[in-house]
Amino acid sequence: MDSSKRPAPPANWRARNLVSIDDFSDSEIAYVLALADYYAPFVKNGARPDQRLAGKTQINLFYESSTRTNLSFELAGKKLGADVINVPVAASSVNKGESVLDTAQTLAAMGAAVMILRHNEPRIHEMLAEHIPCPIINAGDGAREHPTQALLDAAAIRSALGKIEGLVIVICGDIRHSRVAGSDARLFRRLGAEVRFVGPKALAPDDAALAGFPHFDSLKEGLSGADIVMALRMQFERMGEAGKAAAQGYFESFGLTHKTLKFAQPNAFVMHPGPMNRGVEIDGALADDPARSLILRQVFYGVPTRMACLDALLTGGK
Ligand code: NCD
Repeated sequence: MDSSKRPAPPANWRARNLVSIDDFSDSEIAYVLALADYYAPFVKNGARPDQRLAGKTQINLFYESSTRTNLSFELAGKKLGADVINVPVAASSVNKGESVLDTAQTLAAMGAAVMILRHNEPRIHEMLAEHIPCPIINAGDGAREHPTQALLDAAAIRSALGKIEGLVIVICGDIRHSRVAGSDARLFRRLGAEVRFVGPKALAPDDAALAGFPHFDSLKEGLSGADIVMALRMQFERMGEAGKAAAQGYFESFGLTHKTLKFAQPNAFVMHPGPMNRGVEIDGALADDPARSLILRQVFYGVPTRMACLDALLTGGK
């Protein structure tokens, strides 16, 4: 694929919001990934692409902590010429009791062209999408979905291995409390990969939507034949007592190290959406090994992939 040319948009762009990865059709996903490849050299070389979002206001509204997602959305919007506002949630009228809907309506009244929302309440994104006159992008909703993370992970894998179809991708660890696992597994399967989960049974997914993915509680069995192994953080903030008990001694049974990665294909790569807890789910030496780790490549692709999502949603894929 020639990524030096702007890709042709799909014949009819339909998606208005990106709340779930399933909001994008297959042709919309293909277009956004091609557009991410087109934007990647601009990010790498510090060059300015067409200012396709000039004059548009992008609001980043994060009710949960974030480093990568928030900052890469900010950079992505700025690269495309948008006026980007980060709402300082902790210092806003939210602490005077203002609801998410009232806050979002207030921001919409200031002329927001797009809202990027991270919030842990189930279905809050869908509710806002019905009431707010601009597109909503989900930057993480509790343990459910994180669609732009899935797209950037797919972009990073494609850039390293040239494809996703036919790969064996294993997502390892605290699947139950991970929104990354949910969006990634569904997207990778749609793109033709075999997706498996590995980890303690108490951290296996309980969401019916993920029931179709095989879960292994042995690292050795689950990693057999894997091309990609993605570690996840233990999301203690969403865990009950059973999860916390299962997380005890996790590294001894499931930690990713150069040694345990030998259960996978000889050239398998590790990934991690961040933030990492070294020595808890992944060994620092493996995470830092440029021959085996795609972790900083994931971070890099956050910017061009989010540029692609913003561009496609705000221009209707034109
Ligand atoms: C993740 C998130 O917030 O869902 N990080 C990210 O966005 N890159 C994963 C996590 O919190 O562990």
